Amino acid sequence: MSRRPPSSPLLPALAAQVLGALPALAALVLVPGLAEIPLLPALAQGACAAIVSRLQRAPAWWIPIHLGFLPLAVLAARLPVPPAAWLGGFLVLLLVFWRTDRSRVPLYLSHRIVAECVAGLLPPGGGQVADLGCGEGGFLANLSRLRPDCSFLGVEHAPLPWLVARWRTRDLPNVVIRYGDFWNLDLGPFAAVYAFLSPVPMARLGEKAAREMGHGALLVSNSFPIPDLAAEDEIQLADPRRSRLYLYRPGA
Ligand SMILES: C[S@@+](CC[C@H](N)C(=O)[O-])C[C@H]1O[C@@H](n2cnc3c(N)ncnc32)[C@H](O)[C@@H]1O
Repeated sequence: MSRRPPSSPLLPALAAQVLGALPALAALVLVPGLAEIPLLPALAQGACAAIVSRLQRAPAWWIPIHLGFLPLAVLAARLPVPPAAWLGGFLVLLLVFWRTDRSRVPLYLSHRIVAECVAGLLPPGGGQVADLGCGEGGFLANLSRLRPDCSFLGVEHAPLPWLVARWRTRDLPNVVIRYGDFWNLDLGPFAAVYAFLSPVPMARLGEKAAREMGHGALLVSNSFPIPDLAAEDEIQLADPRRSRLYLYRPGA
């Protein structure tokens, strides 16, 4: 049986915000003068939402988010910024980060040094290579120039990075950028698969790779090891992030 994707934390977080608002609303009804100083009920709402979040056993990093969300919104509303700008900012963030709440994999980028190292790991005779979650395509663009003998497929589900990746690689004949969910991609045809994700999906990725990848095919994970699976090799890089590559042959 294959592992299920993690559930989204958005609904519990929303529930904490709404439940946290109830005592603050009650206080507003009982003490109407509070409406004159909206920061006070907003702070109370934040504190109550944080308590609800603890009761939900949400990770501790939700506490500052709940504490700060409404108070910051109240303060931000005082700034001379037109409402359309807030909406525009929200839409840009949505198009860049998309369903990070579900995938638990935000956008951050592999350095050129990583591409140079991975280029040396690809099979000498060429082959098909996949980047699972290719972001804005910079990593694949670097890699494809270093290894013109290979063909590259990048899969990305966030609309704005996907568009940028398409544009960036438009003149590279050995790169295809596909819009979609890489969990639906069959890893069977690939001689090498690259993933720079997060700790959350690694066990699921390990299972998928073991099921689908061919004998001897290489899986390179940047920064995040597959739990309970010994890597064939590990490479420490000298890029600014001090990335570490974990190399597996899951189909072996
Ligand atoms: C950490 S970034 C890595 C970007 C690029 N591979 C690099 O190394 O520079 C991970 C990317 O994976 C994308 N992503 C996460 N889950 C995905 C999924 N299920 N299908 C497609 N893309 C996904 C995210 O939107 C993000 O752009």
